[in-house]
Amino acid sequence: MTGVALGGAAAGGFALLRGGDGALSPVGPSSAAVIAAERRRRLPGATVRELSLEAAPATVDLGGREVSTWAYNGMVPGPEVRVQAGEVLRVPLRNLLPDATTIHWHGIALRNDMDGVPGLTQPPIASGTEFVYEFAVPDPGTYFFHPHSGTQLDRGLYAPLVVDDPAEPGAYDREWTILLDDWTDGVGPSPDEVLESLRAGMAGGMEEPGEGEMGGTEGMEGMEGMEEPEERSDPLGTDTGDVRYPLYLLNGRPPADPATFRARPGERIRLRIINAGSDTAFRVALGGHRLTVTHTDGFPMEPVTVDAILLGMGERYDALVTVADAGAFPLVAWAEGKRASAMAVLRSGAGAAPMADARPAELDGRLLRPTELRAAAAVSFAAAEPDRTYPVPLEGEMATYRWWVNRGSTGGAEPLELVEGDRVRLILENRSMMWHPMHLHGHTFQVLNGSGQGPRKDTVIVPPMARVAIEVVGDNPGQWALHCHNIYHAEAGMQTVLSYVG
Ligand code: C2O
Ligand code: CU
Repeated sequence: MTGVALGGAAAGGFALLRGGDGALSPVGPSSAAVIAAERRRRLPGATVRELSLEAAPATVDLGGREVSTWAYNGMVPGPEVRVQAGEVLRVPLRNLLPDATTIHWHGIALRNDMDGVPGLTQPPIASGTEFVYEFAVPDPGTYFFHPHSGTQLDRGLYAPLVVDDPAEPGAYDREWTILLDDWTDGVGPSPDEVLESLRAGMAGGMEEPGEGEMGGTEGMEGMEGMEEPEERSDPLGTDTGDVRYPLYLLNGRPPADPATFRARPGERIRLRIINAGSDTAFRVALGGHRLTVTHTDGFPMEPVTVDAILLGMGERYDALVTVADAGAFPLVAWAEGKRASAMAVLRSGAGAAPMADARPAELDGRLLRPTELRAAAAVSFAAAEPDRTYPVPLEGEMATYRWWVNRGSTGGAEPLELVEGDRVRLILENRSMMWHPMHLHGHTFQVLNGSGQGPRKDTVIVPPMARVAIEVVGDNPGQWALHCHNIYHAEAGMQTVLSYVG
């Protein structure tokens, strides 16, 4: 994902704010308003946590398979970053990649010039140079970080960012962070080659239900695939992805060589599940257990107990599990519509390890429904009418593999303007036959899901031809990307900017 190409009036200086408040100009990423917002977040004497990162080509061991890729500090996933809410995170990043890069701190309400969108919030960090990220971290929760340049996210460049809550009741005995990923780099074609074949119209998976093959790429299909048919309900529609990957990973390991988590019967475990994939929704279930979902995209919700959770790219869910018995249980992340899965093992006693193709019945059980999510009262926005409402069309053109968010009359993306303090309603209108996980930077919006108290999220699934309304409280000035978290859609144009003006 490179900088956003703005079209229309925006290209030559911003248009008047819609509604005619007079000629206003965009609030720049290091403007006085941004500094003032950071000052309000930064507590005097706040602890500064520092971690150095190096982005570089690396050979990593994906569960017994040596693979050349790009990684942070030589690991996939990269090193977990952990801070307490209210602390300051300081990360010197050395770029040893052959290309320019940046880091985006996905979900964090941070200062705009640390948000990591090249060309919008900072210049790209050139190969061989260094950049120091430093920002206050206001909200607890489960987040992650990744580059915002080209298709780099679809290599090994991603890692968890966990923000602990100093007031956490901590009603659990253990905690596991689970990163899900779809993998091709160094095994199949590189992400850049994948994008090229999609652009060349070789994306065979666009029409066939459950057949999201990587077009024109021989030998990919079935390498790790399973033979069972895809038969369950399809909340994402019939076209779940553009790319069939040779591997699906949980914490950097394929199902044939899974990570093992150990716990004792009766213990309560907090799962922090992160979909770091680029073109894959994962349906997650734990054999023999139910999941009590407590947080979405870092923010608390009224707990709901289900058998399975579906996560789009960029989404996170936290869930509590009480270990039922002594034994070995498969934690399976089914690659929705792709006939393959990632897996880990929960081991609480003796017993045979689950098979690599385990498909616990819970996968087909009660699935968490978007309409039943309710924000915890403490984080729900007060009821109020929006100051501005924007319809935001999501469009695609299969033949040329181009995608848009809020396409203007001249073909580029129109920014969505607001003034600090505004409450803005965005009506995401999917006019395509594919689902899109839509992500807004720098804010945790509230989804208007009909529950009267929809969840606070930063990434929301918009099913094919569906409409999802979200509300944003304009308390973090700057220029913020709004895009599809399918990395190939984003690279093919599916992004715009929520643009503060003043
Ligand atoms: Cu995780 Cu702009 O994205
Ligand atoms: Cu998309």
